[in-house]
Amino acid sequence: MIKKYHFIRIDSTNDIARSLINTEGEIIVTTDEQTNGRGRKERIWYGEFGTNMYFTYSVNHLKVKTFENTISYLASATLFTLNTLRHYAPNYKFKIKYPNDIYCYDGESYKKVSGILIEHIYAGTSLKFSMIGIGTNINQRIFPDNILYKATSLFKLGINITVTDFVNKLSSYFEKIYELDENKLLLVWKNELDIINKEIILVSNYKRMTVKSQLDDGRLLLIDDSEELIIDDGESIIYEL
Ligand code: BTN
Repeated sequence: MIKKYHFIRIDSTNDIARSLINTEGEIIVTTDEQTNGRGRKERIWYGEFGTNMYFTYSVNHLKVKTFENTISYLASATLFTLNTLRHYAPNYKFKIKYPNDIYCYDGESYKKVSGILIEHIYAGTSLKFSMIGIGTNINQRIFPDNILYKATSLFKLGINITVTDFVNKLSSYFEKIYELDENKLLLVWKNELDIINKEIILVSNYKRMTVKSQLDDGRLLLIDDSEELIIDDGESIIYEL
């Protein structure tokens, strides 16, 4: 059984999980509000008090028999969140944007509903702790102008649930995380991504390339007439979902 912590207001669920996991095996940290919510690439992750889910699953690899491959954390967290969204909004189309953002089609375009920030702490080459932070827009009604056409929430899609409902369903997947077969998990994640053979544009120079394959560690192999390139982040490419 994973130990659960809930706070009213903290800086970031990933940071608090990091400070608690030393003496624990597996924990889930949630909060009503983050004062220093963090996204990938040093971005800020905003969210109002009590409206959205701020969730971190953290594991101490010294105390628990965990996954062999760190990419399995990215794959499982993304699929658990996707399954939870589909559970509450079965009539909507959700897609994963490489590697772990989740977008939903709102009748106009695909908009981001969930983001994941994964942090691993090593001692030398051995993995000690992992923090899997998930932010999902549940009941946010108003979005700032700069993301108005890029983000949505379950509420805006017409789905009425509480943050607690979402946390409970998502937590139930994490309770069984190590029962999963890692190879199958990666296959399901890759199938859901559905990015092979798609054309992408590189953000750095607007060059068009094609996704040739996905490596075992999750990175993408891109090709064009003259070169091959391997990337591991979704921020460096633009593509149609
Ligand atoms: C992204 O899309 O850039 C990732 C966003 C991750 C946000 C979540 S909210 C819970 C956890 N705590 C944080 O500070 N960040 C993650």
